[in-house]
Amino acid sequence: MQRFIIEGGIPLSGAVQVAGAKNAVLKMMAAAALTDEPVVLHNVPRISDVTIMRATMGDLGFSLKDRPDGALEILAGEAEWLFVPLEAAMKMRSSFILLGPLLARFGRVIISNPGGDRIGRRPVDLHVEAMRLLGAEVDYRNGYYFAQADGLRGAHVTFPYVTVMGTENVMLAACLARGTTVIDNAAREPEVDDLITLLSAMGARIARTAERRIEIEGTERLGGAEHRVVGDRIEAGTFAVAAALTGGRIEISGFRPGDLAAAADLLEGMGVTLEPLEEGDGLAVSANPGELKPVALETAPWPGVATDLQAPLSILLTQANGVSTIHETIYEDRLEYTAELVKMGAEIEVVDERNARIAGPTQLEGRAVQIPDLRAGATLVLAALVATGTSIVSGVEHVDRGYERFEAKLVGLGARIQRTDG
Ligand code: EPU
Repeated sequence: MQRFIIEGGIPLSGAVQVAGAKNAVLKMMAAAALTDEPVVLHNVPRISDVTIMRATMGDLGFSLKDRPDGALEILAGEAEWLFVPLEAAMKMRSSFILLGPLLARFGRVIISNPGGDRIGRRPVDLHVEAMRLLGAEVDYRNGYYFAQADGLRGAHVTFPYVTVMGTENVMLAACLARGTTVIDNAAREPEVDDLITLLSAMGARIARTAERRIEIEGTERLGGAEHRVVGDRIEAGTFAVAAALTGGRIEISGFRPGDLAAAADLLEGMGVTLEPLEEGDGLAVSANPGELKPVALETAPWPGVATDLQAPLSILLTQANGVSTIHETIYEDRLEYTAELVKMGAEIEVVDERNARIAGPTQLEGRAVQIPDLRAGATLVLAALVATGTSIVSGVEHVDRGYERFEAKLVGLGARIQRTDG
């Protein structure tokens, strides 16, 4: 177990570039399994979830190489195995995105029921039901889904509520199915549309034909493509909070400002200043922490405030002048991390599994805290950056899953953070 030793109380200023989006690249790597031609991805973040996906796809018999220009080249020839083991699924829920492409291209796959972050129950029933609609037989035994199909066929899939990876799994499978697939109540997150762009470049006939509808006309085969992964809006939002929280000014580049959408509006509502960078690929963020206003924060599928920013934003609410509320609508259990913030002196009342009230401003105090999951991990680091004295934040492996060189980037902005073993 590694931990961060963090000295708080230093305003962060300077420039930082965000990496490619975790929640786009993992699905693009899976998309490469749809073709025996090379798929080249630029702007791939150096995070451990990518390492896990590489190892999982490598174990299937595919070739994944770093090119000298830094791009990742994936060549998915014949598969040696059509088996995604428990080991992969336990490390990363998104290994389940391999279901659709492996089934569509090879006709069968045995894939473990995924674990991932401990946020709510997070089942995959909607993915499995959708594969059945596309004509697959899917059995569940001893923790594994056994899926097979003698050629998938197009179908009309209507999700009862928005699921990002469920939408993407169907998209990937339907590209090689016979006939037309219509996905209704489809996810609209920017990463989903970035995947549509890659699939189109691979020769798929896929388009968003209405806000919440994606239509796919299956083709017999897809070809290779080269694509630049969209910038990580969640990483950008995390650094925006860091700037506002510490009273510094950070120029955050490498993402499309529009992708922050509702979170940017919420920050402005709190009194945070967001100015577009001249190059158009980011924002300069600053605030006077003493003047932050309380807000009602409610998460929602795109274009709402991203649930992945709920925890990072909460720390800003501890510094606002008055009572703020959080309403988490996506996950049933994504407020657990608040217990660690309370240890640091935050005044947070968890009303129920989805609602909390935060009173501010509070002076946080350095403590030893434990990271429960990825986004909560970034949040505890942010908390330590405004706390008095020294904090010891354990479980940094969770942060490495989704933030590239997080502490190095913060150190570049003036933070005092050290990574240690133990
Ligand atoms: N759900 C079901 N059944 C399903 C699928 C989802 O009940 O078959 C539920 C989930 O339990 C959740 C809700 O539906 O309550 C929405 O989940 P969704 O399927 O949209 O989540 P996901 O696709 O598994 C992705 C991101 C998450 C992000 C969510 C919501 C990836 C790899 N992960 O997960 O990212 O929170 O969308 O935007 O794309 C993170 O990066 O920290 C992270 C957790």
